[in-house]
Amino acid sequence: MLAENPVGVFDSGVGGISTLGALEAELPRERFIYYGDTLNAPYGTKPEAEVLRCVRDVFGALRGQQVKAVVIACNTATAVAAATLRAEMPDFPIIGIEPALKPAALMRHGGRIAVLATPLTLRLEKFHRLMARWGEGAVPVPCPGLMELVEARDEAGAQAYLQRVLTELGSPLDAVVLGCTHYVFLRPMLREMLPLGTAILDGNAGTARQLRRVLEERRLLREAGEGSIVLETSGDPAGALPLMETLLERARAIARPADGTA
Ligand code: DGL
Repeated sequence: MLAENPVGVFDSGVGGISTLGALEAELPRERFIYYGDTLNAPYGTKPEAEVLRCVRDVFGALRGQQVKAVVIACNTATAVAAATLRAEMPDFPIIGIEPALKPAALMRHGGRIAVLATPLTLRLEKFHRLMARWGEGAVPVPCPGLMELVEARDEAGAQAYLQRVLTELGSPLDAVVLGCTHYVFLRPMLREMLPLGTAILDGNAGTARQLRRVLEERRLLREAGEGSIVLETSGDPAGALPLMETLLERARAIARPADGTA
């Protein structure tokens, strides 16, 4: 595999575009192919075996385009499929994402941490292991239906959903972990709903640094030339691509805030 080859990035829909913004900010010379499996979204309320089948198909579509690595920009797909696919293709670099519970635990000061994710992510063994290690004070909050509100760009619906979640959680939180890449698009909204003392964390920047490490180790980092992004979907391109483009702009603004804070 050559450094010139693209990096594949995928999610069930548009959520992983938030990860793509962080990947591009970290590695601006890379060529990315982003694949939204819109036809099969959502993953987070499906049975595990069905998601594994979808993920295998996406890998087939991306590897058919000679990608040098795949970033699973989906917490749900990572929890379902990353270990299985790594075992099946041990030489191929697969980078996953998981809820940023560890960094949240490290900054916790005795209060609670809410972990918002899909029902499937929170049900799987991978998350139980993460909880066993870093879960003191953590409250898993399954959010069925929330990714659909992001896909529909239903801001009022998403705000009402989050308000309900925060009201149910009650008293102040030390941190909220966005354990689904779709929810990262709700970060600005959540920031206004939460006291400033509540941190909001996601795994995107950590995933971007991990991709850099893996490409460096394998001498696959593209060191010269302009980067690029190609957007693809398993769904109807006329419906999906304009939304993906709009959200890519939003993701870029979130990955590189104008005021320089991260
Ligand atoms: N964006 C995906 C994640 O990070 C899940 C959304 C879905 O349910 O498909 O978990």
